[in-house]
This record gives sequence, C-alpha cells and structure tokens, in this order.
Amino acid sequence: MHLLLLNGPNLNLLGQREPGIYGNGTLASIEERLRQEAKAEGAELDCFQSNFEGALVERIHQAMGLSQGILINAGAYTHTSIALRDALLGVAIPFVELHLSNTHARENFRHRSLLADRAVGVVSGFGPMSYSLALQGLLHHLGQF
Ligand code: DQA
Repeated sequence: MHLLLLNGPNLNLLGQREPGIYGNGTLASIEERLRQEAKAEGAELDCFQSNFEGALVERIHQAMGLSQGILINAGAYTHTSIALRDALLGVAIPFVELHLSNTHARENFRHRSLLADRAVGVVSGFGPMSYSLALQGLLHHLGQF
C-alpha cells in the first residue's frame, strides 16, 4: 500500500504561521508522525509540499500507477484551484481533503472547496490530528483499516 500526502501553499510555515489558528507544530513533525502511523498500518507514505500550483499538479500526475490514495491539504488552493481538482480526477486516485482549521467557522471564501464533492471525505478543524483522522479514513476506504 502506497499513499501520498500533499500540502499546498504556506503549510511550510506551520509552527510560525498564525499559531492561534494553526498551532505550534511544524509540517516536518506532522509528516514524520503520519509516516509512522501509516507504516504501523502497513502503508508507505510519501510527503510533498509546494507553494506552486503546477508543482502540486505534477506531483499528482507522478502518483498515477504508484499511489493507491492521496491525503491533501491544498491550503488556499482548496478554494480556488480547478487545476488541482482536474489533476485529482484525472489520475482517478481516491483522495481525502483535510484542513487543520475548521474552514466553515472562518471567512466565507473558505467555505467553498473545489475538491470536497469528489473527495472520499473531508476532515477539518482538528489541528494536526486532522492528518491522522484523514489517514484512518483513507485506509478504511481502501479496506486496510
Ligand atoms: C487550511 C485552510 C485554508 O483555508 C487556508 O488557506 C490554509 C490552511 C487549513 O489547513 O486549515 O492555508 O487548509
């Protein structure tokens, strides 16, 4: 079982960025913990972060034929990117959308997601635990949990 974790723009700043909303944990610590959690369930997890939409699109393309599932925190691209939506649908790999914050409790422009209606599910508002919950949901969907 091979899975891919994608993080979009500004998530490299976790730990420094608006800690009142996103907490003090770094992306590296989230990735490391998730890798271990995936491994404990018999899955290998690749992690990729980019601030560039095209780089995320290309990483999704590369997952074709390799990854059975994708976890994605697309950051602000969640609310704007038809290109990411098309890439995820194009490779036809099941994906879970996740967010640290509860996007529905924030500004109106964060209420819309261009990914959610095609996701296996959405996890939002649990801080770093959103990543673990999304992993469990994806593994369950793939019949591994
Ligand atoms: C986010 C929520 C988005 O609205 C925001 O643009 C982010 C982070 C989250 O994890 O809560 O960059 O995806």
